[in-house]
Amino acid sequence: MAWNPKTIVVGIDGSEQSAHAAQTAADLARKNGSLLHIVTVVRPPEGWWGIVGSPPPADVLTSSMSEAQQSILDGTVAQLDLDGVEWEAAEEIGEPASALGDVCRERGADLLVVGRRGAGLVERLVMGSVADRVAHYAPCPVLIVP
Ligand SMILES: Nc1ncnc2c1ncn2[C@@H]1O[C@H](COP(=O)(O)OP(=O)(O)OP(=O)(O)O)[C@@H](O)[C@H]1O
Ligand SMILES: [Mg+2]
Repeated sequence: MAWNPKTIVVGIDGSEQSAHAAQTAADLARKNGSLLHIVTVVRPPEGWWGIVGSPPPADVLTSSMSEAQQSILDGTVAQLDLDGVEWEAAEEIGEPASALGDVCRERGADLLVVGRRGAGLVERLVMGSVADRVAHYAPCPVLIVP
């Protein structure tokens, strides 16, 4: 039986690479009549959990980060060609790779699409850590877009 992805999840982080991955996902969704979930994950700063009583308050920090991430999501979505695609955008909080995996599991995704690199500032020889981790641990097939 032919593989026909009904549900596709794409992760975006504001980078050009993730926008490119999202366009690839949108084109695949259009061709296959799939539902596209465009997901951005807010990652709380390292050590954020477990800090007790230290400023800034966690909820304030998270809400301002969450607003920043929301504008990333809106900005990327605005530049995509989503004509003829059924899509939804969502924001999650957590560690990006595991949060993307959770979304795939919850939505019963048939495919997860990510860029090979993202918004990270460190120039690596290999792919980014989020792409690497989802390639190893995602509950569904993964498409990594260079
Ligand atoms: N916070 C996030 N929310 C949703 N998708 C993400 C997020 N971070 C990364 N991705 C997805 O993973 C792809 C690869 O990004 P990744 O973070 O692995 O590379 P990097 O930023 O270059 O490296 P690193 O983050 O390890 O320094 C992105 O193009 C995007 O598709
Ligand atoms: Mg990154």
